[in-house]
Amino acid sequence: MDTVIKKNSPAAKARPPAVEALLAEVAALDEAAVHETMLPAGCYTAPEFFAFEQAEVFSRTWICVGRVEQVAEPGDCLATEVAGEPVLVVRGGDGTIRALSAICQHRGEIIPCPEKGKALRCPLHFWTYDFEGRLAGAPRMGDAEAAQRLRKTVRLPTLRLELWHGFIFVNLDPQAAPLAPTLAKLEPLWAGYEATGLKALPPVMSDKPLPWNWKVQVENFTDAYHPEYVHIGTHDFAPSVMTGDGVRFTEMKADDNAIVRSVPMKQPDGGMTSDGWGAEAAFPAIKTLPPEQRSRITFAMLPPSLTMMFAPGTIAYTLIRPIGAAATLAGSDRVTYGGWLLPQSTLDLPDLTARCAAVSAGGQKIWAQDVPINLGMQAAKHSRFLPGGTYGPLEATLQQFNLWLLNAYRRAMAG
Ligand code: FES
Ligand SMILES: [Fe+2]
Repeated sequence: MDTVIKKNSPAAKARPPAVEALLAEVAALDEAAVHETMLPAGCYTAPEFFAFEQAEVFSRTWICVGRVEQVAEPGDCLATEVAGEPVLVVRGGDGTIRALSAICQHRGEIIPCPEKGKALRCPLHFWTYDFEGRLAGAPRMGDAEAAQRLRKTVRLPTLRLELWHGFIFVNLDPQAAPLAPTLAKLEPLWAGYEATGLKALPPVMSDKPLPWNWKVQVENFTDAYHPEYVHIGTHDFAPSVMTGDGVRFTEMKADDNAIVRSVPMKQPDGGMTSDGWGAEAAFPAIKTLPPEQRSRITFAMLPPSLTMMFAPGTIAYTLIRPIGAAATLAGSDRVTYGGWLLPQSTLDLPDLTARCAAVSAGGQKIWAQDVPINLGMQAAKHSRFLPGGTYGPLEATLQQFNLWLLNAYRRAMAG
């Protein structure tokens, strides 16, 4: 049963003047305009605008919280957050994965994941819930009849959950349209990987926020223009501009939730090495991939919570969890460690640990080049001299992301 999350519901809000002013600026843009201008700086810097995004954008968007491997067996539980709401993702005795609000329905304490085999139990007065969210026990709450009445009526709100190729997505909006159709453009990429019995080594999530807005994070990821200049030495193997070849973009429809580009590699079957992208990939190329996918890397941004790189040896992914206007948690081989989907044949390699370390080292060399750039982009949003922005032919994905944001903000404005 779907449960509406009423907190900060659009109908109940009165937005701060700073947010209204920014939304008025955004509302004045049309689809052509977002191809020619950046969104207002305040969308990246104002705490009030971030609060608006949390309450009215992220809470109506599919948010990736992890992978099925993290709740592999009945009784497994993953504690996470969606748009600031504490959420438990659990696998029940029936094998079904569910997302439950972690807010105890007695007086609102946050319920943690239990030890394996135990029920969900609130730490405050020990109310317990089963893995479908039903109240199982409420000690000292009256006679047997009162306890039974509570058990019949109280349950943890169940949230919308959708599995997409093993990724777990949660949406606080019970009316949200299904996710999978909005990711259709990525479907053709999966078959060659999934023929191998792909499994995830999930990323470690950072506990120290990156000091920039989540949009700066994903813009950096999706920007095909910058690798040639920022990533000298680490990205030359996978250039956006190459004689007779180069970056390819995909069309973006209004309800698309994937912003995709691919770049060629200088040789097939390359991938991440300890020095960045190169020919001697630490994760061996997957033989069931078609030649096209063995000679290109596809970068897919699934705003606002996931970015993916489809490479010949792995799908590497980053989980993104914004917690403030200039505070973004992330987990991946670049930022922390892990975040790979790998075939069983790679997972079985005796030197897997060393290969993972090499990929991580290469990713972190690339990341070390991005960090000062992101710091600069965030700081410049406060400048009186910030330009409106100009986009060239290598920046189609930035324009597509603007369109995604414009649509998301407009949906929020429409209530
Ligand atoms: S608040 Fe959870 S049992 Fe009282
Ligand atoms: Fe970069």
